Amino acid sequence: MQRHLATRTSVRVVIFFSVLPFLYMLIVSNWKAYVESTTKSKALYAIAKKGASGRKHTLVLLVPAPYLGLLAAPKQQVLLGAQDISVTLGGATTGEVTAGLVAELGAQFVLVGHSERRAMGEQDETILEKTKHALAHGLTPILCVGERERDLDAKYLKEVRTQLASVFSSLTKKECAQMIVAYEPLWAIGKTALDAITPEDLREMVLYIRKVLTDYLPGRVRVLYGGSTEAENVSMLAQGSEIDGFLIGHASADQVSYAALLKALA
Ligand code: PGA
Repeated sequence: MQRHLATRTSVRVVIFFSVLPFLYMLIVSNWKAYVESTTKSKALYAIAKKGASGRKHTLVLLVPAPYLGLLAAPKQQVLLGAQDISVTLGGATTGEVTAGLVAELGAQFVLVGHSERRAMGEQDETILEKTKHALAHGLTPILCVGERERDLDAKYLKEVRTQLASVFSSLTKKECAQMIVAYEPLWAIGKTALDAITPEDLREMVLYIRKVLTDYLPGRVRVLYGGSTEAENVSMLAQGSEIDGFLIGHASADQVSYAALLKALA
């Protein structure tokens, strides 16, 4: 029942996004493992709920899996997602958290290919497999791509293209249309607003990503930015760069900085 609810809601989310293309931004929080207390998780959820009411943007919280069951509620204004899912589909796989399980617990989104998972050894094949499991369970995958560093010969563009191709080239057009891409340059993750990308460079990369994706589907895919987004730079990046939203790490996992960030976007 819960799973059907999550799947139906997820379908509605996809339809909503394609019918109203990008009038509204998607503000996705990635709590990572910063939040290790139920009290704090509820406090952050409450800030999101307050921030979501009457606001034009959609707020999504990617929480550690155990919080999914705790925070999920029917007709919630704040959408939930998982930070990772297993490459397995259940059975004798001790410790794994599957796509079916997080969907059952109310997740509608899941991150795939985050650089912190890639750094732990996750390869393109695994990322594709997880993406397929997510889609099969009605979850919207948020595929993270981004270069390690910028070079003068623009090799970083090829790096991003390869990451996109390794997933999109193996999906059907219908599946491609359900994807969200988060551009997260590794050199900008986990620092401060001063280290984030400039709106001009971001705009260029977003246009490049959209151009690459025209090889796989005719429509437009949502592209988010992640990497040291804070209250100080969020509105500047939102205005100057053609992005459809943000994937926010550390600033979304602290009550003060998260509230300030949402205020800056109001
Ligand atoms: P950050 O993380 O906002 O802390 O840089 C972004 C992310 O990795 O999702």
